[in-house]
Formats: sequence, C-alpha cells, structure tokens
Amino acid sequence: MTRRQLFVTTALPYANANFHIGHIMEYSQADIWVRFQRLQGHEVHFVCADDAHGAPIMIAAEKAGVTPQAFVAGIAAGRKPCLDGFHIAFDHWHSTDAPENHQLSQDIYRKLKAQGLIEVRAIEQFFDPAKGMFLPDRFIKGECPKCGAKDQYGDSCENCGAVYAPTEVRNPYSVLSGATPVLKTSDHHFFKLSDPRCKAFLEQWTHAAGRLQPEVLNKIKEWFSVDEEGKGGLGDWDISRDAPYFGIEIPDAPGKYFYVWLDAPIGYLASLTAHFARQGRNVDEFLADPATEQVHFIGKDITYFHTLFWPATLHFSGRKTPDRVYVHGFLTVNAEKMSKSRGTGIDPLRYLELGLDAEWLRYYLAAKLNDRVEDLDFNPEDFIARVNSDLIGKYINIASRAAGFLAKRFAGRLSTTLGADGEAVITPLQAAAPKLAALYDGREFGKALREVMALADTVNEYVDAHKPWELAKKPEAAAELHEACSTCIEAFRLLTLYLKPVLPALSAKVEAFLQVAPLTWADAGKRLGAHTIGAFQHLMQRVTVEQVEAL
Ligand code: 2FM
Ligand code: ZN
Repeated sequence: MTRRQLFVTTALPYANANFHIGHIMEYSQADIWVRFQRLQGHEVHFVCADDAHGAPIMIAAEKAGVTPQAFVAGIAAGRKPCLDGFHIAFDHWHSTDAPENHQLSQDIYRKLKAQGLIEVRAIEQFFDPAKGMFLPDRFIKGECPKCGAKDQYGDSCENCGAVYAPTEVRNPYSVLSGATPVLKTSDHHFFKLSDPRCKAFLEQWTHAAGRLQPEVLNKIKEWFSVDEEGKGGLGDWDISRDAPYFGIEIPDAPGKYFYVWLDAPIGYLASLTAHFARQGRNVDEFLADPATEQVHFIGKDITYFHTLFWPATLHFSGRKTPDRVYVHGFLTVNAEKMSKSRGTGIDPLRYLELGLDAEWLRYYLAAKLNDRVEDLDFNPEDFIARVNSDLIGKYINIASRAAGFLAKRFAGRLSTTLGADGEAVITPLQAAAPKLAALYDGREFGKALREVMALADTVNEYVDAHKPWELAKKPEAAAELHEACSTCIEAFRLLTLYLKPVLPALSAKVEAFLQVAPLTWADAGKRLGAHTIGAFQHLMQRVTVEQVEAL
C-alpha cells in the first residue's frame, strides 16, 4: 500500500466565543477520519486555527474594553481543555492573525491582482456617523420593508422571512450607536469571479470525480445557473472592508483591509506552515508534491466559500487546490436547532465538567454520522441506549466475561488453540478489516459501527453458547474454558482495533490490559497466540439518566 500524505483541516472557529457542541461534532468527525488514516500508516497533518478577524470580533473586543488581539488571545486560551477533553488531536492550532497569515494573504492577493482578477469599484453603503464606520448588514436594524415588523436585521426579517438590501429597511438605525445611518461611497476591491476564466476553472474543479458530495454538486449547479433575465451565476466578490476593521491590510491600499472571509481559509495554509516550521520541514515542497491530498471538513453553511471562492483564490494565485471538501449537516438537539436562549444546546465544557465520558459522545456522534450532508440529532434517550447497550452491553462485556477466568485459572495466559468454534468467530472478525477500512475512509462511520456491533453480537452468541461460567464448574472442561476465554480476548482485541479511531482513550486502556503494543490496522491480520494478558481493569462506566439530565 502506498503511504498517503494528507493535509486535513476543520473549519476555523470564530474567536468570539467558546466552542459549542457543533464544533465538537465536526472536530470529532475529522479526528476519527484522521486517526483511522494514521492507523493505516499514512502521514497526516491535521491543523486548525482561530478565525480572528472581522467586524463582530472587533466590536466585541471594544465592548469588553480590550484590544481585538487580547480578546482573541483570551478565547484561544480556552480552546485546549476542550480539545484535549474530547480527545481531538490537532497537530497544530494557529490564528488567522498570525504573521504567516498576513504574509500569505497579501502574497495571494498580489498574485490575483497580477492575473487581472482584482477590480476596484466605488460602492454605496450605510455608514454610522456617530461611530465613524461602515456598518455590516447585521449591525443595521429597522422595520421590515415587507411586513413592517420592528427591530429587524438589515438583511432579512425574522417575522416574515423576507430577504432584502439594508437600504430597503424603513427607519434604519445603527445597532452600535442608535444613530441613523447615512449612505456613503467608498472604493471596494473585488475578486472578479465573473471572469470567464473563473467559471471555466470552477466548472472543471467542482466536477472532478470524488471531490464533492453529489448533493453539494447539485447546490453548486444552482449557484452557477443564470435565469432568463440574466440573473444569478457567479458574481464578483467584495473582498475589502474599510477601516476601522480588525483584519489584514490590503497592499498599496491605505485604510483597506481584507474581508475576513478572504483571509480565513488562507489560515489553513498559515497553520500548516507554522506546523511545518516547528518541525523544520519545508511546507512548499509538501504542497507541491502531487501525492499530497488536501482535505477540508466543513459545515453546510459555508459550502459556498469553500467550493467556489476558496478553490478560485488558490488556483489563480498559482497554488494547490483542495482535493476534497467534506460537508456535514448541522447538529440538532431533540430535533430542534440549538438555541442558547431556549437552553437546548449542550455546552461541551459542561459535559466534561460533569464527568461525562468524552468517548460516549464520540461514539454516539460517530454512530450517527455518514458521508452525506444530513443533520444529526442528539437525542438523550437514544444517547443512553446506544452507549449502554452497544459499548457496555455488547463490547466491554466480552472482556469482562472472560478476563476473570483467565486470571484465576490460567494466570492470564492465552490458549494457542481456539477450537473450531473459536476459529469460526475470529476468522470473520479478521476478514471484516478491509470492509471496515473502506467505510471509515468513506466517512460512513455509522455503517462501520453497525458492522462492528454485529461482529460483537456474534462473539456474545458464542459466549452464550459456550457458557464459560458453567465450564468453570467442571474440572474436565478446563481446556474448553481456556479456549472460550482466549477466543473472547482475541475477539475483544480485534473489536478494540476497529473502534480505535472513535475511542482512542479506551483503546489505550485496553492495550494496557491486553499488554500489547498500540494497535495498528495491520494487527487485524495477526493473532495474539501464546500471550499473557494483564489483570482486568475497569474500562468504561455505563451512562446514567441522572448524568444526562444534569447536562
Ligand atoms: O463559519 C465560521 O465559523 C467561520 N469562522 C469558518 C471559517 S472556515 C475557514 F475558511 F477559515
Ligand atoms: Zn417582515
């Protein structure tokens, strides 16, 4: 097998708030995929960063009475406990405000400009005369032009669902100062995505086999399509914002900054660059290598940026473009969109503080994840049932049913023979490795875990048929007892390997108990043979209703 070289990212979270459970879902999905690739022996660089720039962060910092840099640093400082707590193993965590990103963004911009793809155009926008700044749509409120509802945002109405331009809002006011905004003209820099070269490139890029999910491709076709009136299609993209703005300065354009969405994805490259620098490795060589695969995990709301703007930005600045963009749906709780005000969200830090096992959640999320852009629902009853019946009832029990007899009767030594029935259990377990590998690689985690649990069922049926607890009472059945318990341990080792991408900490405990080196995918083809295991230690607790209620 050739060793793959992977550059993997998750979306960069805005540095204006702590993680919510949706972040943990995305990071878990990517982390499971990355861990699986590593178990295969592939080289993976898994990076992320804080998305530091933009008006909302600048304004939040001002409210907090600190510089945007200090504000972002405060949020960044809280990231580690949560990432570590959920066993999400990024190789590097960076910031889009770091020097690497300033340099990369400016360099990329210069290249786009040299290609003739940057155009400066004067546009009229709302300006807050009291604050002395242009107002993003979300910072303008007023009456809906359609239904008259008061206090609606400058871009859409929550009452009637209408979408409009901020200039259509009646009696507009600035959310920042309360002042009536005035229209003011200013020069903006546009990335000319309407250029035929962009269209031609994106047509080809988006249609490459295996690059995008079918439903994502369908959405893109909608975005590309032009109606009879000539509306729709790829419009030019406004990539500049006027000072005051927390962002990266546009070269040779005083007072102009890159719109946060220009430099945010470039943060992927900045993070990778910093990660390579720490290892004294050349990142340009790695990215120039045709064998390198660039993979982005993102949520469905930011598909447009990642499948149109981002590849175009990279391609026309002479850089490698993403090989695959994996889009997932939203996480709902009890089938409702999470909402802080209604208290329906799950706070990841609280989850950890309450002492709930991170790997319960990883398992639950994985069991519901697939390769499509579907929303995923967290349902508390379902969570308890899955964890207790699958992980404890089906999987952990296999070891606990066998380990005691092995320790007491055979000093932990395994039998080198498993008998015909034992072989009939272990052979299919080993044979499942390629299929499970394909499911993990294809992000069909739910299917993979259902397969693993079906295998665990066959082991439990074997245990029920052989009844070690009865064999233990008959001195003449010692050899049979030895084989039955050894079969369980061999099966448990294989099941642990197959669950390892999802349950890394539990797997480490099992490896210690079994006294084996860290399992890799190649171990599916091996047997423990003449081997002595350690004393059984407690591996995982059942989840209780009280714990989930407290959450
Ligand atoms: O939607 C968001 O949360 C953005 N901060 C994601 C940025 S992803 C990448 F482009 F940086
Ligand atoms: Zn309305």
